[in-house]
Amino acid sequence: MANDHDTVAYDVEDGIAWLRFNRPDKRNAMSPRLNRAMMVALDELEFRNDVGVLVLTGEGSAWSAGMDLKEYFRETEANGLRGIRQAQRESYGWWRRLRWYQKPTIAMVNGWCFGGGYGPLFACDLAFCADEATFGLSEINWGILPGGGATKVAVELLSFRRAMYHALLGEPIDGKTAAEWGLVNESVPLVQLKDRVTDVASKLNERNPVTIKAIKDAVRRVGDMTYDDAEDYLLRAQEAANSFDNDGRKEGIRQFIDEKSYKPGLGAYDRSRRS
Ligand code: COA
Repeated sequence: MANDHDTVAYDVEDGIAWLRFNRPDKRNAMSPRLNRAMMVALDELEFRNDVGVLVLTGEGSAWSAGMDLKEYFRETEANGLRGIRQAQRESYGWWRRLRWYQKPTIAMVNGWCFGGGYGPLFACDLAFCADEATFGLSEINWGILPGGGATKVAVELLSFRRAMYHALLGEPIDGKTAAEWGLVNESVPLVQLKDRVTDVASKLNERNPVTIKAIKDAVRRVGDMTYDDAEDYLLRAQEAANSFDNDGRKEGIRQFIDEKSYKPGLGAYDRSRRS
């Protein structure tokens, strides 16, 4: 099934929602219109039973060339502070929604990824890119500070020295370097990218969805906590997930301890079978 909001498009196939920035002629720059369409698309997909994983990718040669310098910056500034704040709410809003999405999310970075693009990049739980992709905090090149979370993303994902160099120099890096630096999980040749992402998404789809949501939130939350706070948070999150899907956990234990049909250290239990 396909849906098209003009600036955004998606298809759902085999449990995977392929959500695409769809302004290839503008290198998928994020305009206010695109930002609103993304929020609508995320709403439509989040609780669909046939969606287990969401992949965010781009049409054409770009993943996203960042914020639209004309429609997001120049035209909203013409409407004063009210216009600026509204545009910021709309973009930051769907990135935040994506950070805490119900389903696991994967950024499939097929090409250009600049500036504001780092917001949705970080919002996705995992990220895979093409060796041919190009990343950059390009803001310095046109004279602004990397806002909208972009500086925070660099500091979260890169070492201090790399984040500082990346933000201050505005030099682009290729996909392999992005993987080496930790901006993405992995970089592969563009021709292999969709297969690799499909493989990872299919594996996620085999895992317990209640536990997946608990884990992805926990990984994002505990970074800012003391050890004791994290220990307490994780204990409660684990119990909440258990009570939400107690049968799944018991079945996982049963298949290992009683049935001896799998080893949890080496793979996941078979969710299609319940005792
Ligand atoms: N905002 C607005 N328009 C953009 C854009 C952006 N961020 N990125 C690309 N476009 C537009 C171009 O203005 C051009 O429009 P036109 O066809 O009406 O003239 C069209 O997209 C194609 O861009 P072009 O520069 O010709 O494509 P390219 O493939 O040669 O280069 C980039 C691609 C991404 C390297 C280049 O477009 C670029 O540097 N974009 C800005 C990236 C950036 O600094 N983003 C940070 C914003 S926070």
